[in-house]
Amino acid sequence: MTKWHKSDWRAKPRIQMPEYTDPEALAAVEAQLAKYPPLVFAGEVRKLKQKLGAAARGEAFLLQGGDCAESFAEFSADGIRDTFKVLLQMAMVLTYGAKVPVVKVGRMAGQFAKPRSAPTEVVNGVELPSYRGDIINGFEFTADARIPDPKRMLQAYTQAAATLNLLRAFSKGGFADVHRVHSWTLSFTDQEEAQKYREMANRISDTLDFMTAAGLNADTSAKLSEVDFYTSHEALLLEYEEALTRVDSTTGATIAGSGHMIWIGDRTRQPDGAHVEFCKGVINPLGLKCGPSMKEDDLKRLMATLNPENEPGRLTLIARFGAGTVGDHLPRLIRTVQAEGANVLWSCDPMHGNTIKSGSGYKTRPFDNVLREVQEFFAVHKAEGTIPGGVHVEMTGKDVTECTGGVRAVSDEDLSDRYHTACDPRLNASQSLELAFLVAEELSAMRDDREVAVG
Ligand code: PEP
Ligand code: CO
Repeated sequence: MTKWHKSDWRAKPRIQMPEYTDPEALAAVEAQLAKYPPLVFAGEVRKLKQKLGAAARGEAFLLQGGDCAESFAEFSADGIRDTFKVLLQMAMVLTYGAKVPVVKVGRMAGQFAKPRSAPTEVVNGVELPSYRGDIINGFEFTADARIPDPKRMLQAYTQAAATLNLLRAFSKGGFADVHRVHSWTLSFTDQEEAQKYREMANRISDTLDFMTAAGLNADTSAKLSEVDFYTSHEALLLEYEEALTRVDSTTGATIAGSGHMIWIGDRTRQPDGAHVEFCKGVINPLGLKCGPSMKEDDLKRLMATLNPENEPGRLTLIARFGAGTVGDHLPRLIRTVQAEGANVLWSCDPMHGNTIKSGSGYKTRPFDNVLREVQEFFAVHKAEGTIPGGVHVEMTGKDVTECTGGVRAVSDEDLSDRYHTACDPRLNASQSLELAFLVAEELSAMRDDREVAVG
């Protein structure tokens, strides 16, 4: 077998990638990016892999969330802070409910490129190439903006670096200290969810007071004062990914330097395609989106290609079927995994199978369907005797109205109010919390079942 090389994907069929019109400009950008520092490092990537391995065994739980598409225009420190706050709150709800560590992974600092269902879009009779994410072309509906521009990769890199810098500071600099559990709430969170969160935070504070009084040691105290936070994105724009791959000097392993975890989308997971070819050669934890069209044989091939050593934590299968259809697909794929004896982490993306066009014309997701898909995911795992190890959501700390429903009942008519996403509709802070409480309930019910079974 010949050795994998980071540019081997170029010889494979590619889809969902731009045709750059100026090869020289593209080459110049690639050469520049290749000299830049990687955004993440081998040791971090390995640590995340270990944690995901623990989640696959049910000893931890993966929380992955953030924007559908990060955008240049919406980029701000407050935006990053607020999304981070919501993720911290969700993680706290899950840790408290499930009594297992939560592995926190943002769809952040690199989530710029988007696969699209059609190559062009028509607005008022005008047809233009589809928007493919700020790293590729512009959102604005003009012929100029829609031309893929390689220089956008440099801006995406800069934004990713600045985002990660802030996330590292928040994670380690005191902001994420458990003692500050009350301070992560956002003013516009729905009263019911906020109250539920406050009550839980009170109980956590009480416990911390008790532990301090009982002589909490310095080591535990230090552990509670910071979190490990990781980044992830879809590895879609392979020129960017290739330019940021680096060889780890201590082990010789190749890592994708663009983010800790990368995933392969549901549209680009062809076993012989460019995206699988690139991802198989880097040591990062990989996600693989599994939608209704995933065949058992393809999954078998993909697991063999992407995780030939059957390494725990290497591969996360992200199920995204849509409410009402999880039972048609998840059992057959779980059985394929079991028959292969494959180590995988099962995570649930309850967003991408539940996108609809609302009566008012906006792309939305009924929140009830989001919750229902999560429940179905847990029920199938219970029936199959396997482990539901994580959730993957599109959410934001911004007070948006993009998904309908939730305790605050966003209606079809409300969508136009605060609809800011550059791509798919996201959960707002209240809906994210409500989802976290539901997942925590499911997890603690599972734990109770296990205890009954053992006891
Ligand atoms: C996404 O996660 O934004 C996405 C496009 O998902 P999928 O590949 O599952 O459709
Ligand atoms: Co999306």
